Amino acid sequence: MKVVIGNDHAGVEFKNQLKEYIESKGIEVINVGVDTLESVDYPDIAKTACKKVIDKEVDFAVLICGTGIGISIAANKVEGIRAALVHNEVTARLSKQHNNANAIVFGARILGIEVAKSAFDAYLEATFEGGRHQNRVNKIESCGGVF
Ligand code: RB5
Repeated sequence: MKVVIGNDHAGVEFKNQLKEYIESKGIEVINVGVDTLESVDYPDIAKTACKKVIDKEVDFAVLICGTGIGISIAANKVEGIRAALVHNEVTARLSKQHNNANAIVFGARILGIEVAKSAFDAYLEATFEGGRHQNRVNKIESCGGVF
């Protein structure tokens, strides 16, 4: 399994710890985030990371900014991306089971790293349930565009 991880300046230390944790599970991690505290714009990171998901270079994306809000808003603009800002194991698990999220998002200034690790595990171990949820996931794609 291979994942992409992307973060802005607010998530450097959080990214380092989460990346190490993910790698310790034998998962390959491509880092497209920043590694210094110099200010950057999270949409740029979101776009780079999400492209790898759409191009099927990776299985899913792990995205991090200060709150997780900005980078998830940006990621969800990319066609085909379902980015879930998660807060714990429950939301992480459901983001896969019900929403088939292909990007899991964390707020580095909001969440403790241990909570993030257990949320990551819950997402990883969960399976999309399909059925009525597939219907809804299909409809997500038709929410885009101009009214
Ligand atoms: C950067 O200071 C901060 O605005 C960003 O990381 C994120 O929290 C935005 O949603």
